[in-house]
Amino acid sequence: MKSFHFLGLLSLALAFSFASAFDPSPLQDFCVAIPEPKNAVFVNGKFCKNPNLTVAEDFFFPGLNVPGNTGNRVGSNVTLVNVDKLFGLNTLGISLARLDFAPYGGLIPPHTHPRATEILVVVEGTLYVGFVTSNPNRLFTKVLYPGDVFVFPIGLIHFQFNIAKTNAVAFAGLSSQNPGVITIANAIFGLIHPLILMFSLRPSNWTTMKW
Ligand SMILES: *[C@@H]1O[C@H](CO)[C@@H](O)[C@H](O)[C@H]1NC(C)=O
Ligand SMILES: *[C@@H]1O[C@H](CO)[C@@H](O)[C@H](O)[C@H]1NC(C)=O
Repeated sequence: MKSFHFLGLLSLALAFSFASAFDPSPLQDFCVAIPEPKNAVFVNGKFCKNPNLTVAEDFFFPGLNVPGNTGNRVGSNVTLVNVDKLFGLNTLGISLARLDFAPYGGLIPPHTHPRATEILVVVEGTLYVGFVTSNPNRLFTKVLYPGDVFVFPIGLIHFQFNIAKTNAVAFAGLSSQNPGVITIANAIFGLIHPLILMFSLRPSNWTTMKW
């Protein structure tokens, strides 16, 4: 029993020593160093307010009872409460989102959060959700009903789709003050030259193919 406690303490001590030995995790896409501080915008995260001037409102965000407007191309709306909207989140490694879906087909298209795991709870409606693993890609999907919880591991491509004839509402916690989001279709088809996409899908025998 004693040695067990000792081992526990040792591993705790190791964990803490590692935690302080590593660089901090990035809190935004990048943070380019500049030699001249007058052009500096933020550190890793945001500058900290003088604690003497901090007020309760710094930790408060109202209005997440109000549905987002889903009258758009994809029929969904994400109301994200991250550090840009709730300044008290700075350095705390957490944020929150309300997800609204139009009936039958409201979709949050495949996307990834480069800095956050997402845990979602459905409060209204029926969602078909899923994520894809690193290579070799595997797809995990599930149909969720009110009260059901699903977790999307950090960095993996995932989606949420309303398969019912009613609105759907879900809330999601994200393990970053600034999770970031890359919507796959926009990033791939909107930005990258079509030739690159074509070459990504070329068959392995393409050099010997008769054109
Ligand atoms: C906060 O207030 C205390 C007490 O008045 C003072 O000693 C301290 O310097 C203040 N801190 C800052 C960062 O201004
Ligand atoms: C989401 O809903 C808010 C509030 O109704 C609205 O201002 C915003 O434009 C909506 N976003 C999209 C992408 O439709």
